[in-house]
Amino acid sequence: MELVKLNIDGKEVEVPAGTTVLQAADEAGVHIPRLCYDPELSLAGACRLCMVEIEGWRGMAASCITEVSPGMLVKTDTPDLAEVRKTILELLVANNPELASNAKGNNVLAKYCEQYGVKDSPFKGETNYYEIDDSNPFIVRDFSLCILCGKCVRACTEMTGQDNLGFLNRGYDRKATTAGDVDYINSDCVFCGQCVAVCPTGALSEKSLTDFARDELKTVRTTCPFCGTGCNFDLAVKDDKIVGVLSNPESPVNGRSLCVKGRFGWDFVHNEKRLKTPLIKKHGQFVTASWDEALDLIAERFKEIKDQYGSESFAALSSARCTNEENYLVQKFTRAVMDTNNVDHCART
Ligand code: FES
Repeated sequence: MELVKLNIDGKEVEVPAGTTVLQAADEAGVHIPRLCYDPELSLAGACRLCMVEIEGWRGMAASCITEVSPGMLVKTDTPDLAEVRKTILELLVANNPELASNAKGNNVLAKYCEQYGVKDSPFKGETNYYEIDDSNPFIVRDFSLCILCGKCVRACTEMTGQDNLGFLNRGYDRKATTAGDVDYINSDCVFCGQCVAVCPTGALSEKSLTDFARDELKTVRTTCPFCGTGCNFDLAVKDDKIVGVLSNPESPVNGRSLCVKGRFGWDFVHNEKRLKTPLIKKHGQFVTASWDEALDLIAERFKEIKDQYGSESFAALSSARCTNEENYLVQKFTRAVMDTNNVDHCART
């Protein structure tokens, strides 16, 4: 593999040829502001916030679409760059200056506005008014917060393969929207929420999380219980209650991709109808029991069955929803305690 050496803010970096300057900077631990760049999506170069200075180049370059070349001298943090980024941010919030301070949802743009001292926009003019799309139980869409970075469009095509989103119109009326510009509920959306996970402004947000700033939520990494794929994600927790699910890019199985059940099907956890204690049937009625009572009864009945009818009368059927460790224990118990190899699994056929 051909390697390229360059210098970023005084740091020597060596990266494979074809790497972009922004990726090389990430490699060197130098953060370049970015809004439309996403490591899991194709490059767009749409927001221009990632501008850098490269010695010998005329003007500035968008680092997310500029490939490294040998001996490059890159500067990512100069007074001129700060001025340009401030102007870019002011342009991005021109249609809705509220974006600069709206810390709700996943508004990365607001954090950059704070960093570069942008509170309003000198470029304010005519404002488009859009109805908020609240048509479905999972996703809220607010076009007035959209900066047309196109990440939702690319995520829908490249991560989900659904192609439900695209750009409509040109110029001031441009929108990133569904085919036919219909509400999400009337579109081909499968509600996987990948568009929400990549949106950098909160224009697309999880309905359950719209009222929370991300910093006020505790996150707890967990494994999805819905199928055997083993997707990981972060539960968003507020006051010891789950209020939503957030993608975690470091999830080894799925990255940020989730299905509708994994991302939005978490509310069963706090459902009042969930069983919280074992139930034992007595005189035809289920009555609440302790775990000790339930486990003692199960052990007693298993022993009776084995003594009376033999080991082969017993079989264990396990589940893809269980962890590997739980499935291991089921087969171990069946073989070592019940003396039979009658073990099967719901995902086998
Ligand atoms: S992050 Fe490079 S142009 Fe948007």
